[in-house]
Amino acid sequence: MSKPTVALAADHAGFELKNLLRDELKAQGYAVLDLGTNGPDSVDYPDFGRKLAQTVADGQAQMGVVVCGTGIGISIAANRVPGCRAALCHDATSARLCREHNDANVLALGARLIGVETARDCLKAFLETPFAGGRHARRVEKLGQPA
Ligand code: RB5
Repeated sequence: MSKPTVALAADHAGFELKNLLRDELKAQGYAVLDLGTNGPDSVDYPDFGRKLAQTVADGQAQMGVVVCGTGIGISIAANRVPGCRAALCHDATSARLCREHNDANVLALGARLIGVETARDCLKAFLETPFAGGRHARRVEKLGQPA
């Protein structure tokens, strides 16, 4: 199975973790799209969450990773874009289940809340776990319906 293209985006609180994960993904043979930010200057997480979600929703990347201080703000922003299913995860079990049950296409991480090893575990589980389908497909379909 070919590896998905993975887009990554972060704010100033998340760019170091984003860059570390980006470099590791590249080393593992993933195609990556780095949407910034790439330095410590203060930026607004909604700009980066939206851009990342649009990149995934448009099909330019199959999977996305967003990082801010908590992962909360940037995941809220990403989830406002139709077609984006962002899951904020703090452990590998959540990252596995958001793929199996929710067909999440964006992983959100809080760089100020979790360590590098946990972030690595989350990303590995997220990228390597397939959607289970079945009863979950109907529910995921409903997630795409207008409120
Ligand atoms: C930035 O200080 C911080 O508010 C942001 O990274 C994030 O945690 C928001 O949800």
